[in-house]
Amino acid sequence: MTRPNPLSLMGILPSEARAHEIPAGRPLEGYPRIRPRRNRTDGWIREMVAEHHLSTADLIWPVFALDGDNVREEIKSMPGIERLSIDLLTEKIKEAADLGILAVALFPVTPLSLKTDDGREAWNPDNLMCRTIEALKAAVPHIGIITDVALDPYTSHGHDGLLEDGHIVNDATVEVLKKQALVQAEAGADVIAPSDMMDGRIGAIRDYLDHAGYTDVKIMSYAAKYASAFYGPFRDAVGSSGALKGDKKTYQMNPANSDEALREVALDIAEGADMVMVKPGMPYLDVIRRVKDEFRMPTFAYNVSGEYAMLKFAAQAGCLDYDKALMEMLLAFKRAGADGILSYAAVEAARKLA
Ligand code: PBG
Repeated sequence: MTRPNPLSLMGILPSEARAHEIPAGRPLEGYPRIRPRRNRTDGWIREMVAEHHLSTADLIWPVFALDGDNVREEIKSMPGIERLSIDLLTEKIKEAADLGILAVALFPVTPLSLKTDDGREAWNPDNLMCRTIEALKAAVPHIGIITDVALDPYTSHGHDGLLEDGHIVNDATVEVLKKQALVQAEAGADVIAPSDMMDGRIGAIRDYLDHAGYTDVKIMSYAAKYASAFYGPFRDAVGSSGALKGDKKTYQMNPANSDEALREVALDIAEGADMVMVKPGMPYLDVIRRVKDEFRMPTFAYNVSGEYAMLKFAAQAGCLDYDKALMEMLLAFKRAGADGILSYAAVEAARKLA
């Protein structure tokens, strides 16, 4: 399929179809009549012709929950981000909701003593994740709660699935992910977000939730999730980095591929995903654009921990203006076609937008 050159549609360049309409003697280039800088002379006109805007409603805030009372822990690789016990986290999330943030994504920090080979703490209905969901639902009922489904915070080997003879086994993992999703839905999760990249898990989880009566619980699928070096600080934050044996390349995608991302997204939509996600964000803006253009689904981008850390540390080193770089980065996701952005800087950005 050929597309018309947009410049020729504006009458600036003669396309074959319009060449006869160009008066003889008119210069082919628009200058000096046409000066694109005219629309950039002042703030009001720049804003008036802006194609994309970032709003607080675009921002989803990922947070790290910790057991205990009145406990906060710094995360060295993510300046400004803390692991918080449920009581403190609840206060922070109230503030986020007051700023207009619509949803948070929860990640639990599981103590080593509860990590096992099979990660069975993941489907314990009284685990930290479920207790956090219940507390938040009671204290901040109007904020959306998105919960991660994958085994990595709970396994002693740090993988997202069950490990047998050095392999991550797909179908047996899907069986336990269903149970993990169900305890989260029972605790009150609004959106189940499987981040494990097992094949067939979206359909299996959808059926399992429906069968249990949770037909309104939504699924945000980490549909195109890449085996990325940009997750480093996150694994630090949830304490899975030390544990992780090997890499996740047999289930997360190869960064070289984007046709494959479309196939992954198509499958997850067919299996019942309500929303899809591309992850990481910044190095994969092309994938976001392709997914949005191809499927027209609610499409989210995860501005991951490594992207957050890059900006923070660059700013600390005096290399760039943090606030300006942050807003430029978040706007880039909108330009790429994202409907929303999961970002550790969501609250900082919301404050700037307020
Ligand atoms: C795990 C999971 C990861 C992230 C979200 N869920 C890490 C991984 O796949 O190793 C990464 C988030 C980030 O880096 O901000 N299922």
